[in-house]
Amino acid sequence: MKDFLSINDCPTEFLKELLRLSTRLKRLYKYGGNESPLAGKTLAMLFEKPSLRTRISFQVAMTDLGGSVIYVKPEDIGGIGKREPVKDIARVLSRYVDGIMARTFEHSTVTELAKYSTVPVINALTDWSHPCQAMADILTIDEHLDLHKNLKIAFIGDGNNVARSLGFACAKFGMKLTVASPSGYELDKESIELANKISSDCVKQVSDPAAAVIDANVIYTDTWTSMGQENEKQKRIEIFKDYQVNESLVSKAPEGVKIMHCLPAYRDLEITDEIVESKGSIIFDQAENRLHFQRALLKKLMSQYEI
Ligand code: CP
Ligand code: NVA
Repeated sequence: MKDFLSINDCPTEFLKELLRLSTRLKRLYKYGGNESPLAGKTLAMLFEKPSLRTRISFQVAMTDLGGSVIYVKPEDIGGIGKREPVKDIARVLSRYVDGIMARTFEHSTVTELAKYSTVPVINALTDWSHPCQAMADILTIDEHLDLHKNLKIAFIGDGNNVARSLGFACAKFGMKLTVASPSGYELDKESIELANKISSDCVKQVSDPAAAVIDANVIYTDTWTSMGQENEKQKRIEIFKDYQVNESLVSKAPEGVKIMHCLPAYRDLEITDEIVESKGSIIFDQAENRLHFQRALLKKLMSQYEI
């Protein structure tokens, strides 16, 4: 694979290899013996939206592997696709750097970058998907539960980019995902069909959050208002109010259920502070694993790929 754009495009064996490599590099990182396979290599990081985890973890991962990064805000280059076409940005950057990661609104911006670049392109979140998050989530689930046990995940809230990538990841790793959303905010049928084509009946949509958590090993949630939807925030708070992950909902799940959230978390909207801080919460392991997965991804894509 040259690029990492969406989980559903990736062969299962490639994803499994990335998972094994993440585990190995995490161990190395914690106990010493780091490798520097990306010495002398540079990653350009293009961000149309804010970021804490993705930006810092990619920068730390690149540095740790011996390489360096250039952080590019859209205004620095006159906007992505505004001052010049995306295909020209892709071809010019390919002459300077060894990899491009991009966080954009339109998913087509990252696919266009990948089409025209001769170096790997990594999707660092688009309106449609967040594959790096989903793989860090799989790594986290693998550490806390047994991935081989036909695990059930309940995603409560908006059928958004994070839910979609999680659905594809569940399909690839043999887990089941039930998404519970209010009417009009479900995961789209096409994405559910794509996931179920990879693994039959692995993703389903319901409206009742209690029905989704009843047999869940993991309860997952994300913001009700994604980046770019800020002007809908008040409307969404009203629509999603019965979809909060709180003590009452968690008590309907089996004992020992794990709580996940990709962060940033809006306390007392999609999740209560009590649940973020609860014993079952593995939210900060998830955040840490962004770093470990991305080290594996960068090593795999950028050290195999010579310009
Ligand atoms: N979860 C995640 O992608 O966080 P950031 O938006 O801070 O990068
Ligand atoms: N769904 C959220 C995820 C943030 C990491 C967003 O797109 O803003």
